[in-house]
Amino acid sequence: MTILLGVNPKNAINPEDLPESPFMLFDEWFTLAGEKEPSYPNAMSLATAPKNGRPSARTVLLKGHDERGFVFYTNSESHKGQDLADNPQAEILFHWKSIERQIRISGPVNIISTEEADAYFASRPRDAQIGAWASQQSQEMQNRDSFMKAFEEIDQKYKDQDVPRPPHWNGYRLAPDHFEFWIEVEFRLHHRFAYEKDDAGWTRKMLYP
Ligand SMILES: Cc1cc2nc3c(=O)[nH]c(=O)nc-3n(C[C@H](O)[C@H](O)[C@H](O)COP(=O)(O)O)c2cc1C
Repeated sequence: MTILLGVNPKNAINPEDLPESPFMLFDEWFTLAGEKEPSYPNAMSLATAPKNGRPSARTVLLKGHDERGFVFYTNSESHKGQDLADNPQAEILFHWKSIERQIRISGPVNIISTEEADAYFASRPRDAQIGAWASQQSQEMQNRDSFMKAFEEIDQKYKDQDVPRPPHWNGYRLAPDHFEFWIEVEFRLHHRFAYEKDDAGWTRKMLYP
């Protein structure tokens, strides 16, 4: 195919060889990123917006994924939590510099089941569990001592006990209906592939870079 002209040989891709499922391509790239990215290959930007307001973005960690969607955990009273309550749509974005690739994934977002969130919360280090109670994420903090004091009080409260999951600390699953894969090619002749979901399944197309 002429698209191979000018391709940086290390990123040569024949679009006809791409898998039909975007999840398969995600897995392939995510595995590669896990081998090459020096820190947090599971870090992703999460973009949200209230229904009639300004978009905002921040980094969160991907903590699970399968064909149902992409799971992250956060405080539902945070800025992003409030956005998602108002407008449960989001985009997540991975940019792995080490492998010169970007993936954008968007779709509706739902809170995961309490069982699933409880199981993940139980697997976290105890101090992180206490931190989830002590942090009023995204609220103004007058001084750090008040945060540390709250941490100690919660530590004492659950002394010799398991720390339960705070009700405001939840898992969210983004169920994708759109993927876009980008890979660097020299002279900015990059590859871009979009996958879109409709009733018949996934369709794939190329985009100009
Ligand atoms: C590498 C990295 C990973 C992060 N992972 C999470 C995460 O999984 N969940 C979370 O709530 N915040 C995480 N944060 C903090 C968020 O980026 C953000 O500061 C916080 O969630 C508040 O965002 P908000 O005010 O927009 O809701 C992470 C930050 C970094 C830099």
